[in-house]
Amino acid sequence: MFFDTHCHLNAEHFVGEVENIIEQSQQAGVEYILVVGFDRQTNIDAIALAEKYEHIYAAVGWHPVDAIDCTNEDLIWIESLLSHPKVVAVGEIGLDHYWDKSPHDVQQTIFEQQIELALKYEKPIIVHDRDAHQAVYQTLKKYANRGLRGVMHSYSASSEMVKPFTDLGFMISLSGVVTFKNAKVPKKVAELTPLEYLLIETDAPYLTPHPYRGKRNEPAYVALVAEEIAKIKELAVSEVGKVTTANAKRLFGIEN
Ligand code: NI
Repeated sequence: MFFDTHCHLNAEHFVGEVENIIEQSQQAGVEYILVVGFDRQTNIDAIALAEKYEHIYAAVGWHPVDAIDCTNEDLIWIESLLSHPKVVAVGEIGLDHYWDKSPHDVQQTIFEQQIELALKYEKPIIVHDRDAHQAVYQTLKKYANRGLRGVMHSYSASSEMVKPFTDLGFMISLSGVVTFKNAKVPKKVAELTPLEYLLIETDAPYLTPHPYRGKRNEPAYVALVAEEIAKIKELAVSEVGKVTTANAKRLFGIEN
């Protein structure tokens, strides 16, 4: 019924508990999970999980915060992973102007090099955008006429930016942030974005939805994101689950 399109079961927070957490998510109606890599080890672990579980898929990529650590060999290696049958996207990639570990120009270069890989292998991208909305938008626009597709993960730009991003063919993914009482903009984004352009995610272990805020997040809680969207859009939760799952399967080329 639900597709958690962005989580990090490959993060150290879940060591030794992955099996239980997956079982609980299935009981909560989570039908598919996309585990997203962000550096060497997490890319390896994302693929290992996708190989072990039929309903789990992997995305591989290099996170912008650590762009400065990404070598040419790493990019060649990431390219080699894109032929794996369970790797369905390049991510998470993007720009992060909040943390200053990697200079903006280095982030930009690593972002665009991975966009080129996505285009070459006809994969969608999973975009991390933190405090870099205009720069991300301009970058995506530059590649749009070459058929670049993807999703704005845990969308955090303004409600006015929804249309420009969806006009580029990008999907809008909402996380647990939309459930926070003071989250006016995400709620407005949920209201304005056509259901056909929405995905849902947890970004577990981060961004835990209300009423579990402050605890570790897990894929089972993606149901709470769907419930909030259903409330805002005045739809049945089952409808939100059905359409967002279909959207994700279409974007990531998942057929079964
Ligand atoms: Ni993430």
